[in-house]
Amino acid sequence: MSRIAILGVGKVGTAIARAALTAGHDVTLAGSGDPAPVQFIVDVMAPGAGVATATEAVRDAEVVILAIPLPKLETLSPELLAGHIVIDAMNHWAPTDGALPAVFAETADTSSVVAAHLSGSRVVKALNHIGYHEMEDDARPAGAPDRRGLAAVSDDPDAAQQAAELVASLGFDVIASTPLSLGARLEPGSEIFAGSFSGAEIRDRLAADRLAVA
Ligand SMILES: NC(=O)c1ccc[n+]([C@@H]2O[C@H](COP(=O)([O-])OP(=O)(O)OC[C@H]3O[C@@H](n4cnc5c(N)ncnc54)[C@H](OP(=O)(O)O)[C@@H]3O)[C@@H](O)[C@H]2O)c1
Repeated sequence: MSRIAILGVGKVGTAIARAALTAGHDVTLAGSGDPAPVQFIVDVMAPGAGVATATEAVRDAEVVILAIPLPKLETLSPELLAGHIVIDAMNHWAPTDGALPAVFAETADTSSVVAAHLSGSRVVKALNHIGYHEMEDDARPAGAPDRRGLAAVSDDPDAAQQAAELVASLGFDVIASTPLSLGARLEPGSEIFAGSFSGAEIRDRLAADRLAVA
């Protein structure tokens, strides 16, 4: 069991929370402000999860999951998240996000910008290439022939491995790899983002550039 803080109480944050609760993890959700209005959402969408301010949620967490709109990155405090394994589940979703700030144009993968902003955190890109509605529907027990594969990529192999184990506990075969820039292969417009693959297929598709750690 892990203590997980999820920042973002929208479609993705609550779907991950339900999946993590089902897997037996301790989950606390935080929105962008006062927790009081969030409590009702969590009572309905992720009953059993805790609700707190971001500061309180992150303080005791072993893993923090970012489930907020990417353009809101600057609202996250690097000091708050320093030292934590941070799973970046965010994408640039143009229909809702619009154009991204200019800093994102400097690299092909958005998670490298996230890691630069959260320079004291151990950033892992994961859980971004599965729809929120699939996080429970596609989950399968270990060994199931149709278990879906996902990726967890980071510049920090240990963080990638720990994130992979967490996501695997939700019901997926997770390929942990370095470097974080492989996140470009998981983003909207990529083959992996558009499809549903087994773990072996994910491994093959990352193989050209990756240094696998699991
Ligand atoms: N939709 C999908 O299937 C899917 C799948 C994978 C990944 N993603 C990515 O996951 C992210 C979230 O998507 P979503 O569909 O869940 O969005 P959403 O339903 O719009 O929810 C976003 C949530 O983020 C909160 N938020 C904004 N700034 C915050 C901050 N600084 N701290 C804590 N919470 C904050 C918002 O709260 P307030 O209203 O209080 O601002 C809202 O609860 C996006 O980056 C998206 O691209 C989406």
